Order: sequence, then C-alpha cells, then structure tokens
Amino acid sequence: MNNIISCSEVFYNYNNSFKKKNDLSNIKKTTSVLKGIDLSINKGESVAIIGESGCGKSTLLNLLGAIDKPSSGKILINNTDITKLNEEQTTKIRADNLSFIYQFYHLLKTFSAIENVMMPLLIKGIDKNKAKEKSKNMLFKVGLENKAEHLPNNLSGGERQRVAIARALITNPSCLLADEPTGNLDAKNAKSIIETIIELNQQQELAMVIVTHDEKIAEKMDRILILSDGKLQQ
Ligand SMILES: Nc1ncnc2c1ncn2[C@@H]1O[C@H](COP(=O)(O)OP(=O)(O)OP(=O)(O)O)[C@@H](O)[C@H]1O
Ligand SMILES: [Mg+2]
Repeated sequence: MNNIISCSEVFYNYNNSFKKKNDLSNIKKTTSVLKGIDLSINKGESVAIIGESGCGKSTLLNLLGAIDKPSSGKILINNTDITKLNEEQTTKIRADNLSFIYQFYHLLKTFSAIENVMMPLLIKGIDKNKAKEKSKNMLFKVGLENKAEHLPNNLSGGERQRVAIARALITNPSCLLADEPTGNLDAKNAKSIIETIIELNQQQELAMVIVTHDEKIAEKMDRILILSDGKLQQ
C-alpha cells in the first residue's frame, strides 16, 4: 500500500468529570468531537485540514500523530494499527515516521538554533559530530546557516519557525503534521515558510497534513479537507 496514514470510522470523545458547588457527586460530561473520520494520506501527498475554531482539527492531528488514541476506530501509520500498540511501540512508530510543527514553535529556549535541530538526532543516539554536520545542512536548507548559534529569543518569529521545521525534518520522517504553523506569522513570513515546507516536501517525498485557517496556504496543498460536524468533507 502507498498510504502513510489511513484511518477509518474514527470517533473521539472528551470525557470530563466535575463537581457542582454544594454537591459532592461527580458530574460526567462527554463531548463528541470526531464522529466517523475516514482518511487516507499517500506518501508524498500534502493535505490541508480547515474548519471552524473548535471543530476538532487539533484533536484529529493528535490522533494522526499517535499522541492520543481514538475512542473507537482504526488508525494505521505505515500499515500498523497504532490503536493496538503499547506506549513504547507507539513512541517508536511515531519517532520512525512522524514529525510535528506547532503554532508557537516549542523550541528549547536555552539551546541554540543548531542545538535545537540536533536534539532529535542525539536522542536517537547519533554521534554528536555527525548530528552537528547534518543539522548545519538542514539549517542551510531553511535559509538559516548564519543564525546557527542564535538562541530562540534572538530570532524572529519566522526564523524560529524555520528552526522548528529543520528540527522536524532532520530525522527524515515520512509525514509532517503541522498545527497552524503560520498562525503566529505575518503574511510575508507565512508565505515564505510554506514555500520552504513545500520545497522540502518535494525533495524528501514527505507527506504532510497542515491545519490552517489561511485559505491561501490551504490552496497550495494537493487536497483540502473541511472538518465539520465531526466529519471530513472534500
Ligand atoms: N481536554 C478537553 N476536554 C473537553 N473538551 C475539550 C478538550 N480539549 C478540547 N475540547 C473541545 O473539543 C473541541 C475540539 O477542540 P480542538 O482543539 O480540536 O479544536 P480546533 O478545531 O483545533 O480549534 P482551533 O481552530 O481553535 O484550534 C472543542 O469544542 C473544545 O472545546
Ligand atoms: Mg487547534
């Protein structure tokens, strides 16, 4: 099969319990967010997911990224059903196949740009000198070769997101999951970040799922899916 991610009949409910004032009993509340998601993403394919705030886009991305498990349904990553795996197996399949980018970069503040990019390689046990060399090349690809030693605080928003992209792609993942990666950037930086991601997508045969509110960005993807009432519409 050529799918990197495939899910069928995926449901997700948030279950919260809370106490009312002057009442000791627990009140349980279930919010059904995803109500039957079917989705297949091919290797190298780019997909945008759009939809109103609160419709469940981040929830869906967390399921696709094996960060959370669905209430019911099947999710296959590279043909393995992740809903049946234990914590350790899930961590491995995530590390071997997926990478994430978020709206607020999530960089480690006390580490330089290059150290942030090196981190996933060091965690994998790759030799420090090799990791540094590879990270230098990756920073070059995202246009930041001159800012390798900068701390995140000494970089602009667009530059920080470039470091996050370099860090996400340094391990050659099969699929990039991005939750509003340009949500914190001005239009010019947003465009340039997306162009960089698309270029890397073509070079590395990288599949990607991008959650975005920006129509211009969504239009650059191979497919646009609208999440509405817990389901995906083409
Ligand atoms: N921990 C939680 N407990 C209960 N409900 C939650 C929880 N987290 C999220 N929700 C609810 O689930 C729904 C989907 O949330 P989600 O964050 O996936 O939406 P979203 O589409 O990413 O929104 P946005 O565009 O604003 O980021 C929302 O109605 C939200 O209030
Ligand atoms: Mg969200």
